[in-house]
Amino acid sequence: MQIADRLTKIPPYLFMELRKKIAKARAEGVDVISLAIGDPVEATPKTIIDELCRTAYDPANHRYPTDEEKGMLSFRQEVARWYQDRYGVTLDPANEILGLIGSKEGCHHFILARINPGDVVLMTDPGYPAYRSSILMGGGEPYNVPILAKNDYLPVLGDIPTDIAKKARGMFLNYPNNPTGACATKKFLNDLVAFAKQYDIAVCYDNPYSEILFAGQERISFLMAPGAKDVGVELNSLSKPFNMCGWRLGMACGNADLIAAISKVKENTDSGIFNPIQFAGIHALKQEASFIDHMIEVYGKRRELVLATLKKIGIFFAPPKGTFYLWVPVPEGMTSLEFTNRLFDKTAIVVAAGTAYGKYGEGYVRISLTVPDDRLAEAMARIEKEFTSSAD
Ligand SMILES: Cc1ncc(COP(=O)(O)O)c(C=O)c1O
Repeated sequence: MQIADRLTKIPPYLFMELRKKIAKARAEGVDVISLAIGDPVEATPKTIIDELCRTAYDPANHRYPTDEEKGMLSFRQEVARWYQDRYGVTLDPANEILGLIGSKEGCHHFILARINPGDVVLMTDPGYPAYRSSILMGGGEPYNVPILAKNDYLPVLGDIPTDIAKKARGMFLNYPNNPTGACATKKFLNDLVAFAKQYDIAVCYDNPYSEILFAGQERISFLMAPGAKDVGVELNSLSKPFNMCGWRLGMACGNADLIAAISKVKENTDSGIFNPIQFAGIHALKQEASFIDHMIEVYGKRRELVLATLKKIGIFFAPPKGTFYLWVPVPEGMTSLEFTNRLFDKTAIVVAAGTAYGKYGEGYVRISLTVPDDRLAEAMARIEKEFTSSAD
């Protein structure tokens, strides 16, 4: 069977590979604990599920959701209210908001809507792997911009070579950042808008962790920066704040031309989001904000436990203040992969090697806090035992 050339450039998707590895070990009877994937285990709040069920019985919702192809107007209006309340950002539901089947599809459609074959698209290294895949599938040329601990994991825009910036037509960014947990500053966002204007670069600011914050970190949207709507869109999602990863609901907000272009891609691809999911999303945004506070408390306790365990085995670092991930420096003298393999072979714990996110991820692993408390406690006990009782 012929398979399209565009797929041969795309590396296997990290989490699919990890899932296979975990499934194989479990089939052999190993009690594997995975701290690798960012997928909350606690249920979606019941009232959100109730709203899905209630609206699913209405036959009007069984038809194609295409009469409002940008997503139901009532969903977009609720997103506008949410952005106003949470971020002080004003959006016009008529042309500055588009419903998405999760922010991941938004990344892909952003490329199809904006990028011509051969255009350079900037992305961070380390970075969310789906950006590279989307760029390649759309015929673009990814260019990695390093994000390093010494710069608080923010790109140094002035270090991007001018010839590359001139050829770039798009840029993916994501703060609070997966994988590092770093948060953007308002100054950085202002600089980003100026940089994007100077070089005509459309920014795709992927912000699904905008609500998952610790230690007094304020909520930040790219759209808070003056002029942001002139140069880009922000993607957001209900996956992480409301434990709705499987529901597939998100939104693109910002530049009206880009929203219209992404909408055109979607009209010709997926015909929209099942209405009951949008009704459930409206309910989540309207009624369940306190659930986010609850989950932040849960993640906060897990974060403390992991940090305390790492300290006991000699790993110290100042954790960034966003996301439910910890970006952990590996012990001296080991590579990311060596540490990952040792954890898996000796303790049956899976973490994500930093190099899975790019070459600048060397020296780190990513630990996700989206595991039940008792499993995390067990994982930490195993790690402590392995690294305090063995000689090396
Ligand atoms: C940076 C980033 N963007 C997008 C996504 C996908 O989010 P969604 O479930 O809304 O598609 C993830 C999920 O892990 C992510 O980490």
